[in-house]
Amino acid sequence: MSWNASQYQSHCSYVWQGGESLVDLLAPEPEEQIVDLGCGTGQLTQQIAERCATVTGLDSDRTMIDQARVNYPSSTFPNLTFQVSDAASFQLPNPVDAIFSNAALHWVQPAESAAQCMAAALKPGGRLVAEFGGEGNVSTILTALQNVSGKANLNPWYFPSLTAYATLLEAVGLKVVFAHLFDRPTPLGEAGLAGWLAMFGKRFLPEISSAEDWAHIVSAVEKQVPQLYQAGEWVADYRRLRIVAVKSQA
Ligand code: BEZ
Repeated sequence: MSWNASQYQSHCSYVWQGGESLVDLLAPEPEEQIVDLGCGTGQLTQQIAERCATVTGLDSDRTMIDQARVNYPSSTFPNLTFQVSDAASFQLPNPVDAIFSNAALHWVQPAESAAQCMAAALKPGGRLVAEFGGEGNVSTILTALQNVSGKANLNPWYFPSLTAYATLLEAVGLKVVFAHLFDRPTPLGEAGLAGWLAMFGKRFLPEISSAEDWAHIVSAVEKQVPQLYQAGEWVADYRRLRIVAVKSQA
């Protein structure tokens, strides 16, 4: 199922705004070649490109890549390239200095395949700087969605514990040098919880086909989670896993 990239871009700016500090953690160097894995519509890819030699944004969704190319055309951004590629199977012609990934790896399974691809794509000494949903991420929203939809275990995402993910990376030769699991409540902007559910949750409930039934689900979920409505806006209970890992020298 493909994304609605223009809706994503207009309603979900909290995704890349929440990842801006990860670019600082990446600390791109002027001579470096970097991959942005799960680049979406390219906003962070462009920020990275301002600070290094070349960046390739990869995303498995064609509509996201098309939108990224419209946003950042190669005529204006010559060190920026976008390609459709799946994080669980991608291969690069040449290894890179760093892989960056924001809010993407929880969509990718099997996670072991993504880890193997990332390890293969890095130069010896190259680094992975990633942040995505960790254990317990959006648990309040998920519980409500499960209650309301009657679907138990409705968690299509990969939200690992810190230990589980560090173990997985170490198994493919990526040495974890920094790992942090932390709550990051995330304001959902004007589209609110309804917008978040429409963008990220609806795809997992294909049986809800009518707009009326969907509106009923959204309203029932909202009623179950009044604690997420804070100071006049909806705030998602994000919990992030932030990781830096370095590929062993050959
Ligand atoms: C996240 O960024 O944590 C996330 C976004 C959409 C669905 C699930 C998790």
